Amino acid sequence: MYSVRFKPTNFAVQCFKNCRTYYTVKRKVVKDENYVARQIYQKIKVKGPMTVADYMREVLTNPMAGYYMHKDMFGETGDFITSPEVTQMFGEMVAVWLLNEWQKMGSPKPLQIVELGPGRGTLSYDIVKVFSHFKALHKASLQLVEISPVLSELQARRLCDKHTIVNEKMVVYRKGSSPHDIPVQWFRQLSDVPNAFTLLIAHEFFDALPIHKFHKTYSGYKEVLIDIDPAAEKNPENTEPKFRYVLSRNETPMLKSLLKPNETRDHFEASPDCMLIYKQICERLKATGGLALICDYGHYGTGTDTFRAFKKHKQVDPLVMPGTADLTADVDFKTIREVANKVEGIITMGPANQRDFLLKTGLEYRFKALKEQVKDKKHLENLTECYKILTDKDKMGERFKFCALFPETMRKILDKCPVVGFNQFIP
Ligand SMILES: C[S@@+](CC[C@H](N)C(=O)[O-])C[C@H]1O[C@@H](n2cnc3c(N)ncnc32)[C@H](O)[C@@H]1O
Repeated sequence: MYSVRFKPTNFAVQCFKNCRTYYTVKRKVVKDENYVARQIYQKIKVKGPMTVADYMREVLTNPMAGYYMHKDMFGETGDFITSPEVTQMFGEMVAVWLLNEWQKMGSPKPLQIVELGPGRGTLSYDIVKVFSHFKALHKASLQLVEISPVLSELQARRLCDKHTIVNEKMVVYRKGSSPHDIPVQWFRQLSDVPNAFTLLIAHEFFDALPIHKFHKTYSGYKEVLIDIDPAAEKNPENTEPKFRYVLSRNETPMLKSLLKPNETRDHFEASPDCMLIYKQICERLKATGGLALICDYGHYGTGTDTFRAFKKHKQVDPLVMPGTADLTADVDFKTIREVANKVEGIITMGPANQRDFLLKTGLEYRFKALKEQVKDKKHLENLTECYKILTDKDKMGERFKFCALFPETMRKILDKCPVVGFNQFIP
């Protein structure tokens, strides 16, 4: 059977509505919509203009009122929708891909599935379901890296029969077990997840991490900073802080370390936070084996000004009412390859477009099989719409990209049995 996600009447939205009625948050959460803006205002007053990275960190993950820390923002009633939330077909294809590549490695056990930033837990749910169908969960565990207490609670409800908060201060802050009897654990950062053979998945995780922004001027590159808007300060009618972009006068430490000698773009963005995690992933794969699949919207070293905000499915100004809208920036897939090359001993595949990856993994066959099971016209329309959203070039098909990382020790096997979903050439 299947459930089509995306339409207001669908299963996921109904579940979500039910969830909200019995859902409790233990920590104190600030309801004031201007709390984050005032925090940022105070910081700038004391320390001067802040980097876009510091602004993003404060807006998204401030423990009291950060965007990710206090609500469920997914779906039609939220601010945005992601592929796993559109339809189960997405998670099923990712699961089939993981299963296939894992089997090529000889199905090593124990098997640790790691998801970074699992949102509502939907992708992990679909992956575990497919793995259980293929009886591949013996000696398996699910490790989730999630910063948000509210989302970790939603993930636990989605994924576990039983779950408990261990201790908010511990490395593993929540534990549970899935209906398939596999242990599920929650961590705040990847470096805390046990070093073991890993199948790692990150879907729309890296686009949520802080970026630095740089702009080319007549006197060289400058870092873009965020300052208090002086015009708004002088206006007595303004009761809440307003912000504006300014350029750093001098070379900032981040400009010094992130500007490449051959850079030509008028504007570029870079994320040391992402780079650190790419490095940790590569080192983990080298040390203990496994693979990583990174899916996000992004570019290959060509993106310019991609920093933006989303609220109620509309693009809004990232500097207005911080904490009430999602902030995001495109992922630079070229940086993933560069970091992997520096670590050495890592094969990088991609980026491949979502459409190409899903079709090569067999989405069309799954779509046809589901169509045959569907009895009523409405469901058929929903299913077809979901398929189009995932694959159409003007929807999620082209902007979203997939990149896979494998340890070099897999080269001989991958030469014989190429990685599904990507061009055959292994660099
Ligand atoms: C855009 S959502 C994507 C959710 C999910 N992967 C999906 O595609 O539906 C980003 C996720 O990453 C989590 N997140 C954001 N910043 C994080 C950080 N610094 N550390 C851990 N998780 C983070 C958010 O709480 C959320 O679960």
